[in-house]
Amino acid sequence: MSHVLVFGSANMDVVARVPRLPLPGETLAASSLAHVPGGKGANQAVAAARFGAPCELAGALGKDDHGRSLAAFLDREGIATGRLARVEGPSGLALIAIDAEGENQIIVVAGANAQAQAPDLAPVGGGPRPVALAQFELPVDEVERFLLAARRAGWLSLLNAAPALAEATRLVALPDILIVNETELAVFAGGRVPAGVDEAAALAARLPRKGAMATVVTLGADGVVALVGEAVLHVPAQVVPVVDTVGAGDCFCGVLAAALAEGQDLEAALRTAVAAAGLAVQRPGAADAMPLRAQVLAQLA
Ligand code: ADP
Ligand code: NA
Repeated sequence: MSHVLVFGSANMDVVARVPRLPLPGETLAASSLAHVPGGKGANQAVAAARFGAPCELAGALGKDDHGRSLAAFLDREGIATGRLARVEGPSGLALIAIDAEGENQIIVVAGANAQAQAPDLAPVGGGPRPVALAQFELPVDEVERFLLAARRAGWLSLLNAAPALAEATRLVALPDILIVNETELAVFAGGRVPAGVDEAAALAARLPRKGAMATVVTLGADGVVALVGEAVLHVPAQVVPVVDTVGAGDCFCGVLAAALAEGQDLEAALRTAVAAAGLAVQRPGAADAMPLRAQVLAQLA
């Protein structure tokens, strides 16, 4: 199996449970508080590592307690952190309030993530190509450098263009495989949010691909639709009891990268990633909801 290098964010999610979300100017008492490792980069790296890929997370942590906790968490998950810089100031942080109905309010503080610098990529030798995977929770210029470096070095590059940043539209043509959800697709392709598989495929066809392998759109309970060359491929999701879809997209991206790194072809890798994401939605949380390789393979059997 080849390896997966994720260039992405790591955040400490500080999660307070509240009876209802506070109004402007209001103070409310929380019923509980939890610190949970998060950030799209870390979540996707955990998904890839649990699927069995040798995995590294590059980016930046602060020299604070949260940074130390995040590094220890990534170590426990078997994720290499040698190129996760330790910079002055706080680590990335998300302040999350969740009410009794599960509705939330989230404030993200970029912290150290804003200082992340794209790592160098060694030129590819023989064998399956290593996979480079990025998202948009790091500076856009650095993500662009990373994708260009991946192309020069012959790596297979994946971009999960999330969150949707209109100013990052120029990057969506850079990776070998672009992954977006319906909302992000609407922003980057310049249309309304598609309803269903056919509308999503039609809208995705408007995105520039420059000969890249595929554009992949995740559709929640409808699974994914992928434009691969001239073909449109729909992989439906399993019908499962949903506990919380937080992290489903991150699970999909990380496992897709890992499956490609082990040499699966794109269609097989999409099916593997959909199976994994269908398991993640049955468990609470994001990073902690990522399934193990054996669970994903059992789901596919
Ligand atoms: P995001 O969270 O980024 O918006 P999606 O909601 O599209 O991403 O979910 C990503 C993937 O997770 C989907 O393509 C699907 O495979 C899986 N998934 C999400 N929601 C469900 C669901 N309700 N039932 C089964 N699978 C789901
Ligand atoms: Na989940």
